[in-house]
Amino acid sequence: LNNHNHNHHFRHADSTASPPSSAVAKISHLKAVVLGDAPASEEDDVVLPSHDFSRQALVPSQQKYLEMYKASIENPAGFWSGIASSEFYWKQRWGDQVYSENLDVRRGNIKIEWFKGGITNVCYNCLDRNIDAGLADKIALYWESNEPGFDATLTYSQLLQRVCQLANYLKSVGVRKGDAVVVYLPMLMELPITMLACARIGAVHSVVFAGFSSESLAQRIVDCKPKVVITCNAVKRGPKTILLKDIVDAALIDSANKGIFVDVCLTYENQLALKREKTKWKEGRDIWWEDVVPKYPTSCDVQWVDAEDPLFLLYTSGSTGKPKGVLHTTGGYMVYTATTFKYAFDYKDSDVYWCTADCGWITGHSYVTYGPMLNGATVLLYEGAPNYPDPGRCWDIVDKYKVTIFYTAPTLVRSLMRDGDEASYFSNLYVTRYSRKSLRVLGSVGEPINPIGGSRCPISDTWWQTETGGFMITPLPGAWPQKPGSATFPFFGVQPVIVDEKGVELDGECSGYLCVKSSWPGAFRTLYGDHERYETTYFKPFPGYYFTGDGCRRDKDGYHWLTGRVDDVINVSGHRIGTAEVESALVSHPQCAEAAVVGVEHQVKGQGIYAFVTPVEGISYSEELRKSLILTVRTQIGAFAAPDKIHWAPALPKTRSGKIMRRILRKIAARQLDELGDTSTLADPGVVDQLIKLADT
Ligand code: WT7
Repeated sequence: LNNHNHNHHFRHADSTASPPSSAVAKISHLKAVVLGDAPASEEDDVVLPSHDFSRQALVPSQQKYLEMYKASIENPAGFWSGIASSEFYWKQRWGDQVYSENLDVRRGNIKIEWFKGGITNVCYNCLDRNIDAGLADKIALYWESNEPGFDATLTYSQLLQRVCQLANYLKSVGVRKGDAVVVYLPMLMELPITMLACARIGAVHSVVFAGFSSESLAQRIVDCKPKVVITCNAVKRGPKTILLKDIVDAALIDSANKGIFVDVCLTYENQLALKREKTKWKEGRDIWWEDVVPKYPTSCDVQWVDAEDPLFLLYTSGSTGKPKGVLHTTGGYMVYTATTFKYAFDYKDSDVYWCTADCGWITGHSYVTYGPMLNGATVLLYEGAPNYPDPGRCWDIVDKYKVTIFYTAPTLVRSLMRDGDEASYFSNLYVTRYSRKSLRVLGSVGEPINPIGGSRCPISDTWWQTETGGFMITPLPGAWPQKPGSATFPFFGVQPVIVDEKGVELDGECSGYLCVKSSWPGAFRTLYGDHERYETTYFKPFPGYYFTGDGCRRDKDGYHWLTGRVDDVINVSGHRIGTAEVESALVSHPQCAEAAVVGVEHQVKGQGIYAFVTPVEGISYSEELRKSLILTVRTQIGAFAAPDKIHWAPALPKTRSGKIMRRILRKIAARQLDELGDTSTLADPGVVDQLIKLADT
C-alpha cells in the first residue's frame, strides 16, 4: 500500500502471478479481477468484486446500491426511520419529525437533529439488546496483549457485567447524566468498558489518545471539566513501558493550577506493565480500579436519554492552535455507525473483526466500540505495537483469532515494510509464514491508498472524519467495481458535492472542494462550548453546505478521489494535526522567534511534519537547539506530533502585508525548486534563496 495518487497501473506484488495480458486475471479464491493491460490512467484500473463475494453480499450489485441510495436521498426520513425502528431498541419513539436541520448560515443558526424526542440508550443497544437476542455467550471482545501469549476474552454477558460494575461505581462517586468523564487509557478491555459504562448512565466520555502529552491532556480536562479521570498506571508498547499515570498526575496539577479540580482519578493496575507498588499515588484522589469496581453489582439500570443528548466529546485538530471538542449525540450516531459498519464491511454474524485503530481516535469510537458492538460483532482489541516482537505480529494475530475483517490505516502497513518495498515485505517470512486465509474483507482509512499486491479481498477505502461520525464515501464490497485509490461512492443518505472557490456546485468530471449537502444522522452537532466556531469553520466557507476541509476529484464514472486537506491541517500517519498547533508549541520555546509548519510527503507516515524555524536574534543554529525544539513539541502535544525536519530560516517568505506564503514553503520542503512559482509579491524575494541554501544543513 502506498499513499500516492499517482498515475500508473497497479502491479501485483506477487510477480510469479504474471500480470493480466488481456481482460481477466484470476488472482486467488476471491478472484480480484483486473481489467485491461496498460490503461491510460488510474481511472481505468477497475477491480470487480468477485462473483462469489457479491452473491453472498448484503448489497450484491450496483443496481441494488443505486436503488437503496436513491431511496435514502429521496426520502431520508423514511429510509433512516425504517432502519432505526427495526434494528434498535427505543424506550419511546421520536416525535413527528425524524430529523430537522438548518445547514445554511444565511437562514440562522446551524442546527442538526435526528430522532429528537426518541428515548434510548446506546449501551443498552450494544449489550442488553444483543444478549436478549441470544448473543449472551458470543465473544464480544478478544484482547491480545503487547506480550505474545497473554490474552483474554469476554462474552457479551460478561462484558455487560463489567460495564454495569463500572457504571455503578461511577454513579457512586456522583457521576450523573450529562457529566463529562475523561478517559486516558491504552487499548485494554477497560477502554471500551469505560465508554459503554459512561453511555449506560448518560455520562459524556471524552477519550484522550494515550499518546498525547500531559499538557494536551490538561487542556482537554480544563475544557470539559470532568469529575472523574480514568487511566491506568502504565502500558507496554513494544519493548517500552510508558508511565501513563505520571502523565495524568502532571496534567491534574496543570489543570488544578487553572482552577479545575478532578475529584477522582480511577486507575487500573495494568500488572503486565507495572506493579501498583511502583506507581506514584495521591491518597484521597487516586483509587485503584481493581479495589473498588469489582465490589459493585453486576447489573445497573439504564439511564434512558433523548436521541439528541450527548454521547461523547472527542477533541480534534483544526487550523488554529486550540483543539476542537467535537460533540456527537446519541440516536443518530448510534443508527449511523451501526449501519455503515454493517454495509461497508458486509458484516456477517460469524465474522471476527479487527480494527487496528486506537479508541483515542474517532475510528476507535465508531468502529472498535460502537458500530461493531451494535451489530453484536466479535471484536479484537490489540494492546501493543504492530511490529512487536517482529513485523509479522499483525498476521500472527490474524491467524490466531481467524480474523475475517481487518480494518487498518495504510500507514500501519507501510511502517512494517522497513525499506518501503511492499513487494519484498509481502513475499518475506514475516508475512508468508502466516496463512491469513481467514481474511475476507479489508478496510482502510485516513489517507488515500493504492493497494498493490495480489489482493484477493475487496478493500473498503473509507473516507470520513471525526466530525462525520461514520463513513461518508466508501465502497460497498460486493456492489461496485472498485478503482484502487478511490473511496468510490457516497454511503446511503450522504450527498457529497464538489464546489469551486465561489461555492458553485460542479457537475460531471470535476475537481474542487468537497462539501456535503444536507445532514446525515451521524453528523456532529456542535463544537463543545463554541457553536460559533462550529458555524464559522464548517458552514460559513460555502453557505448552505458542510465544508469538509478536503479537496476531491470526481472522475468520468462518478468515482471520488480524495486529494488531501485544503486547509492548514496535515495528515500524519492517518492522524490529523493542525500546523498551527505545532507552530504554537515551537514558538513557546524561548529561543524560537518564528515558525511555519507544512506537510511534506513521507514514506511511512503519508505526510511528515516539516518546520521552518527562525531563532531569536543572537541565537545560532545548533543540533542542541534542534533537539530541544522537538522536545518542546513532544511535551506540549505528544510524540506523534514531533517535527520530522527542522529547517533553519533566517526569515520566512512573507507578502508585503506580512502573510507567510506557505505555498512557497511547501515547495521548498518538497524540494520542488523549479515549481516555486511567482515570488515577486514577496516583501523580500531574497529570503527564498537563503532558505534553499540552508535546506540541508
Ligand atoms: C481526514 C479526517 C476518519 C478517521 C481517520 C481520520 C483524511 C480520512 C480518508 C481516505 C483519503 C482520508 C481526510 C479527512 N482521510 N479518510 N479514505 N482517503 N483521505 O480522521 O482525524 O478526523 O481526519 O483524514 O483528509 O478530512 P480525522
